[in-house]
Amino acid sequence: MNILKANREALTELYQSLRKEYEEYKAQNLSLDLSRGKPDSLQLDLTQPMLDTPLTRDDVVNGGIDYRNYGVFEGVPAMKKLFSELFSIDENNIFIGGNSSLQLMYDTMMRCMMFGTADSPRPWVQVDKRKWLCVAPGYDRHFLITEKLGFELITIPMRADGPDMDLVEEYVKDPSVLGIWCVPKYSNPTGNTYSDTVVRRLASMKCAAPDFRIFWDNAYGIHDIAEEGDHLMNIFDACKEYGTENRVFFYTSTSKITFPGAGVAMMAMSDDNLNHARSYLSASTIGYDKLNQLRHIRFLKNPEHVRAHMRRLGDMIKEKFDLTLSILDQTLLDSGVATYTRPNGGYFISLDVMPGTAKRVYDLMKEAGVTLTKVGATYPYGIDPEDKNLRLAPTYCTLADLSLSCKILTVAVRMSAIEKLIF
Ligand SMILES: Cc1ncc(COP(=O)(O)O)c(C=O)c1O
Repeated sequence: MNILKANREALTELYQSLRKEYEEYKAQNLSLDLSRGKPDSLQLDLTQPMLDTPLTRDDVVNGGIDYRNYGVFEGVPAMKKLFSELFSIDENNIFIGGNSSLQLMYDTMMRCMMFGTADSPRPWVQVDKRKWLCVAPGYDRHFLITEKLGFELITIPMRADGPDMDLVEEYVKDPSVLGIWCVPKYSNPTGNTYSDTVVRRLASMKCAAPDFRIFWDNAYGIHDIAEEGDHLMNIFDACKEYGTENRVFFYTSTSKITFPGAGVAMMAMSDDNLNHARSYLSASTIGYDKLNQLRHIRFLKNPEHVRAHMRRLGDMIKEKFDLTLSILDQTLLDSGVATYTRPNGGYFISLDVMPGTAKRVYDLMKEAGVTLTKVGATYPYGIDPEDKNLRLAPTYCTLADLSLSCKILTVAVRMSAIEKLIF
């Protein structure tokens, strides 16, 4: 039923039957969770062989290098090569970090705050009323980094093909706007991928700040679930065309390829940027965990092998995405009060409910024993101005729990909309 077109009588009748269904769910004292954007144990089992065979002496001492010792500061060459081949980035522009790309982003941001960038006339901390562009709905931990560091966060709406570039181009005329957070492929949480046009506009736009930086978090860069994954233009290629190579800091990790929290993270940047970063990085560590890098290389082998592994993970996630979407489609597709994304990859589905009802949906779900990601988490300062966006994370729970959670969700979404319309 299209709730927006139905008359009051029909809505009252529908509400009563939804309420009854909702009370039945509530009576089951459920404890379910649709908020956890992480792999389930079956996914992790596919990487278990990485740990089942210990590294041998030949693994850790090779090519004249003893990887058990200090040294090889920028990462094991074979790990650099693998990332280089997967993302078409020159090995010389890659730096391998520890277990977390988020930590590399935070660390880069702190460096910029304290020392500026390769192009900065002053450290960022000295920029009065500094501002940062946040593509939203987006990733809450990005927003938190820049909020904590005293930036004013500016919301840029995320569209099907990436950020609203007219708005971005307008804002970057302000010299106190120092950068933008981007999750360019299978964005968290919409699952959308930036078009070539958007990538080119980001690379070519005229920025008033000479040290404007794009934090290009390609966390889901090879995480297809559809047979035919999305295409993302290589931003370094675009920057080369426009002479803006220094504009981009690129990040990714194997968190959702191997083990979240125990994978390998990397960053990539222009020669100037990496030279600048090196001088400070070497003050903070003698080197990251090369043995974990070696374990990863032995397990992941080469790009073809990684892609085959990702195909298996993608098939597991696809089953959950398909289940979620099929349940939403049954009652929400033509309801007029909900729209949602159908990503070809990544970890999330973004659900927009009737404006002004997302918090109510969250509360109804909570009362029924289903945890959702907090409303507002996908926006700067944790505030969704329209109170309409919900981030669904189908990957972690079992198929049975997912099915039940989604059914309750469709009830809560329609109940909330009807309450808004007629009560
Ligand atoms: C967009 C995005 N970036 C980064 C991360 C965290 O990555 P890492 O484990 O490499 O720190 C996540 C985790 O969910 C994410 O969604």
